[in-house]
Amino acid sequence: MQSNITANEIRKDFPVLQRKINGHPLVYLDNSATSQKPLQVTETMKRYYENHNANIHRSVHKLAEEATEIFESSRKNIASFINANPEETIFTKNATESINLVAYAWGLGLQKGDEIITTIMEHHSNIVPWQFLASRGIKLKFIDITDDGLLKIDQLENELNSNTKLVAVTHVSNVLGTINPIEDISSMAHNAGALCLVDAAQGAPKIKIDVKKINCDFLAFTAHKMLGPMGMGVLYGKKELLEKINPFNYGGDMIRTVTKEGSTWNDLPWKFEAGTSNVSGAVGLSTAIDYLKKIGMENVREHDKNMMQYAIDVLSTIKGIKIYGPLTAENRSGALSFNLGDIHPHDLATILNDKGIAIRSGHHCAQPLMERLGVPATSRASFYIYNTLEEIDRLAEGLEHAKNVFKIE
Ligand code: ALA
Repeated sequence: MQSNITANEIRKDFPVLQRKINGHPLVYLDNSATSQKPLQVTETMKRYYENHNANIHRSVHKLAEEATEIFESSRKNIASFINANPEETIFTKNATESINLVAYAWGLGLQKGDEIITTIMEHHSNIVPWQFLASRGIKLKFIDITDDGLLKIDQLENELNSNTKLVAVTHVSNVLGTINPIEDISSMAHNAGALCLVDAAQGAPKIKIDVKKINCDFLAFTAHKMLGPMGMGVLYGKKELLEKINPFNYGGDMIRTVTKEGSTWNDLPWKFEAGTSNVSGAVGLSTAIDYLKKIGMENVREHDKNMMQYAIDVLSTIKGIKIYGPLTAENRSGALSFNLGDIHPHDLATILNDKGIAIRSGHHCAQPLMERLGVPATSRASFYIYNTLEEIDRLAEGLEHAKNVFKIE
């Protein structure tokens, strides 16, 4: 199976991938937790600190002017990557904070009896902020999945009603890899008079995002899963909504005027960016986006599909394996969760680590989904642009080795 991406060329940009772990070449298959960073990203961030570092939007000196320009031009690049306007592109520290921003700034305006719909396949970050609102009288409903890991869209249709104020859904499940039909979900939410929030933390790294096409009201993603630095997130929000809602954090830079009696708010997007911003994070994410654009998001997704289908095909032949989620790469991206016989996922991950293979084991911050699947935990291999088909073969060998260790037929 061929991919347009030559992963072996790309790997040269990622020094960490040259490491040996326990005497074996590292096979990094924990990309849904965080991606590795290319030299282009780390060097740009270093250059920023070495040559331009200053606080932004405040001083008039040359460095401050340069830092402000770097920050705001990074925002323009990041906004255009998702087809948004810069004023609708708010910087946060991660996708979780982006969702919390909506829960606090928009959600606290909800009334008792209002309803929010989410799904059973969400990461805790798209559940717990809504539970906070539920503790204040909002009704929180969960849409179930089918046994093959797809969202029950007909259940969503039935649950939507005039009390529904928000449908909060993940683009791609961090456990099942399921790609949800977010354009359809957004339009269903709007038909019922509700808003739609998309958690694109897992989707944005691999699938081209166009917020206008999706027509979502809010969309959250994070830099560190798409070659960028940790501590840098984005919230897209429709301008008319962002203008209406209150700030989230209060303090410096987010104000227009402050008197002893009260304050007025800065323009978008700065109204939502209190305190000193993460300038190197913004330039790091912008450089990561340039890197992905150079490869082409269509090629990123094609590689993702090829890796996924190959992994499903190869791993399915292992006796005793149970793979969770859809078995076709067409509606699946990035993450492949499984259990092998009765080996505990943490034991499996430890044995694979002995062979230099890095996967994640546990509940993947998705405990309601684990309950739905009827397991306490799974093992998860997750792929990105620099992974190769040979690495999937190494994973399969590692799993056969684990079966031998545990004497599983
Ligand atoms: N959300 C990240 C994961 O799924 C940390 O591993």
